[in-house]
Amino acid sequence: MRIFHADLVYSGGRDQLISRRSCYIAVENGTVEGIYGELPEKYSGVPLTDYGSSVILPAFSDLHVHAPQYPQRGLGMDLLLKDWLDTYTFPQEARYADPEYAAAVYEAFLRSLIDNGTFHACVFGTIHREATSYLLERMESLKLRSFVGKVNMDIQSPDFLRETTEDSLHGTEAFLEQYSANRYAKPVITPRFAPTCSFALLKGLGRLGRKYHAGMQTHLVESRWESSEAVRLNPACSCDTEIYEKAGLLENGPVIAAHFIFPSEKDIRILKKYGGFAVQCPDATVNVTAGIMRTAFLADAGVRLTLGSDIAGGHLPAIYTQAARSVQLSKLKAFYEPERNRPIPFAHAFYMATKEGGALFGNVGSLEPGYEFDALVIRDFSEPFRKLEPEESVERFCYTGGPGDILARYIRGESVTAGRS
Ligand code: GUN
Ligand code: FE
Repeated sequence: MRIFHADLVYSGGRDQLISRRSCYIAVENGTVEGIYGELPEKYSGVPLTDYGSSVILPAFSDLHVHAPQYPQRGLGMDLLLKDWLDTYTFPQEARYADPEYAAAVYEAFLRSLIDNGTFHACVFGTIHREATSYLLERMESLKLRSFVGKVNMDIQSPDFLRETTEDSLHGTEAFLEQYSANRYAKPVITPRFAPTCSFALLKGLGRLGRKYHAGMQTHLVESRWESSEAVRLNPACSCDTEIYEKAGLLENGPVIAAHFIFPSEKDIRILKKYGGFAVQCPDATVNVTAGIMRTAFLADAGVRLTLGSDIAGGHLPAIYTQAARSVQLSKLKAFYEPERNRPIPFAHAFYMATKEGGALFGNVGSLEPGYEFDALVIRDFSEPFRKLEPEESVERFCYTGGPGDILARYIRGESVTAGRS
């Protein structure tokens, strides 16, 4: 048992930011036991860490990130999706045939996740099983709750980054078999997107999903080009999401749909039917996709909305920056297309970044009793000329902060030290 004293900020629900000054939070076996305004008598002998007027908040969840693209962040951001993939991304990903290169990058990537307070993530690897296994095993040992995928691509891909359908299925099955029983880092089926996956491959992956009770992550209705290409290749389907439904990929575990920017009514209906999570990746949306998600509209329609960094379509690994960007983009969308779009409050963006995103991984993403203490301590952003409320410090941190503003990090109640990213 341990007690922490500080101000607390966490999400109570979609538009509800809870902000409490000077609280004692009791953590037992890595889980929040209770929050108290006064320290209860029974805890008077328990070790107490006092963070004063700093703010404790839940750690962030990144529901869409490409670990192998970490070395290319901030480069080639003047291209749109297809050209960006062909020119920068596919050659970069081909390098992970070399396990030593992979290990060097993945260590830096994980350091950056932890430095930025992202302790739960849905991660794309590459088509290479050995490199992706290294990534998953390191995430398991760091106790980072995560879904990690060996990527599948068997058509319309360069020779240096394409598998045969058979090899792709074999590699995926071995990966699922090896890691299905993991506690923290779990395998997830990861067809890159419909333009690089034959339907035979997707159907085969659907069979594996059923056998291993594995969910799926992919890019869904990300751009107009991608969604029309998906349907052109699969004429029996009238929308992108239906392709994965027909392949039997949506019924075996969690479904994580990155982007979901241009969904038809049918895409929305199918994603909701399977309880899928749509992931807004605000920076990536501006950098390589040129489309803005209708966040308020989709949330009103009952779609579960979360946030992703989409490194390296997005250039920043920090999910707190994406929460700020989500508010900004909702305002742009409402300004240019006022019908059925409106700005979202900061509380909603913070909910996506913490409690709603965390729901995919279990009891993480809040400080409420019963949640795992995966938490950050950030500094009080007050200045001599303006005192801030705790929730204002959190909002300013999301807009202007960086790893240096995070004073402490806890994973399941254990302190983790930052690196140098
Ligand atoms: N669509 C297919 N592959 C990718 C990728 O690597 N990044 C993004 N943002 N979109 C994709
Ligand atoms: Fe992506």
